[in-house]
Amino acid sequence: MTTCMTQAEELDVERFVALLNEDLGTEYQSIVQYINHIATITGVEFLGVIDELKLHLGQELSHAQVLAEQVSFLGGEPATTVPAVERASDSRLALKADLRLETNQLERYRLRFTQANELNLADVAEALRPLLQQTQEHVRDLQAALGD
Ligand SMILES: [Fe+2]
Ligand SMILES: [Fe+2]
Repeated sequence: MTTCMTQAEELDVERFVALLNEDLGTEYQSIVQYINHIATITGVEFLGVIDELKLHLGQELSHAQVLAEQVSFLGGEPATTVPAVERASDSRLALKADLRLETNQLERYRLRFTQANELNLADVAEALRPLLQQTQEHVRDLQAALGD
């Protein structure tokens, strides 16, 4: 037996559920972060952005629900811990923090979608598809808002 296994070799349903639970934590973080940023972002250049963030917030709630349901469906206990959210010192930095989180989630969901298919969890992969699509939209929205 080797002590250094690749990610593919060690991926089983248990590990997959642990990763889904981490994904759930990132959605809790999104919810808290967006609520904070919607209330605190100022500046006439960001007026339209607030409405975008409100749309994101509603979708993050559904992402968290989907993930919690999948964890439960696979026999796990859905996480209840919210990761710490750092307070941004200005509006632009707040949006950059949102973009970092969304980009990170997009990478996570791409991988999770592939893993679900590898584990023959077709229903789970299907449930993850809207998260993947909407997170991609959130990344684009934030890039546009930041002019990046
Ligand atoms: Fe999300
Ligand atoms: Fe999002």
